[in-house]
Amino acid sequence: MKRERNLQINAHGRLQHFLTIEGLPRELLIEILDRAEGFAGIGGRAVKKVPLLRGKTIVNLFFEPSTRTRTTFELAAKRLSADVLNLNIESSSAKKGETLLDTLRNLEAMHCDMFVVRHHLSGAAHFIARNVAPHISVINGGDGRHAHPTQAMLDAYTIRRHKRDFMRLKVAIVGDVLHSRVARSEIHALKTLGVPEVRVVGPRTLIPAGVEEMGVSVCHDIETGLKNVDVIVMLRLQTERMRGALLPSAAEYFRLYGLTPARLKLARSDAIVMHPGPINRGVEIDSQVADGGRSVILQQVSHGIAVRMAVMAMTAGSQAG
Ligand code: CP
Repeated sequence: MKRERNLQINAHGRLQHFLTIEGLPRELLIEILDRAEGFAGIGGRAVKKVPLLRGKTIVNLFFEPSTRTRTTFELAAKRLSADVLNLNIESSSAKKGETLLDTLRNLEAMHCDMFVVRHHLSGAAHFIARNVAPHISVINGGDGRHAHPTQAMLDAYTIRRHKRDFMRLKVAIVGDVLHSRVARSEIHALKTLGVPEVRVVGPRTLIPAGVEEMGVSVCHDIETGLKNVDVIVMLRLQTERMRGALLPSAAEYFRLYGLTPARLKLARSDAIVMHPGPINRGVEIDSQVADGGRSVILQQVSHGIAVRMAVMAMTAGSQAG
């Protein structure tokens, strides 16, 4: 943990890379949320730009599919006035056998300043951060099952917008926790921000062994797990990461763990419903809930821009130290 923290925070105590929430201090997470608050209004202006990263070049390196993360990082960078390059891995020379390190060296030769990385391998963003030139910042846009730190921060931002005081909350994270980098980062973020009760809810096959060591409670019965919670975070079944049959069927999963209007009534009357997306309607969530008045799923997407602006501004700012 110490090594990861040192890798992320430079000699001046500033955030150089954003790779994982694990090991970051509460004050830094609060700074991200506060900086995001300052950027949130920019999307509503006639001119949706501030000159903070003018002259910087940011590369989106996505080795795995993405809708929300890639586009909101691109919008965030453009709203900060940076130049953005989206490297299409499918049509890049990686397909001709170029190694990741050689791709990085070539992008460095183009005087890029920041890489936003999504990769199917856990640890890929750390590997890149260890191997880039010292002036480059790396932001993890999701690596394998390991971490998705900006998703966790935009979720925390959304929760703070609705609930204000982290110290009084009960949060249920429901579904495929085993394969979820969002769940891991979210647990680290919520516990660091002081949420006293985080429950992970799901079938035994989809809850990682020893998850209690992260300070959460485990519940295999969704009715019990949702009782009186303030926030429900639904997770997608990550079938692309599953090896072997961990579930009888999608229909059976929905019957046992799907969030329906009836189950939502078990939570507090002002509970909010979150989902990092993409959602699978009728598998982990009923459309009436996903599109209903308690759902903040699309707000999460909007907040992602402001939070990613904050993280980019902070990591780029670390170079000034
Ligand atoms: N939440 C999330 O990571 O969505 P994408 O896969 O579309 O980026």
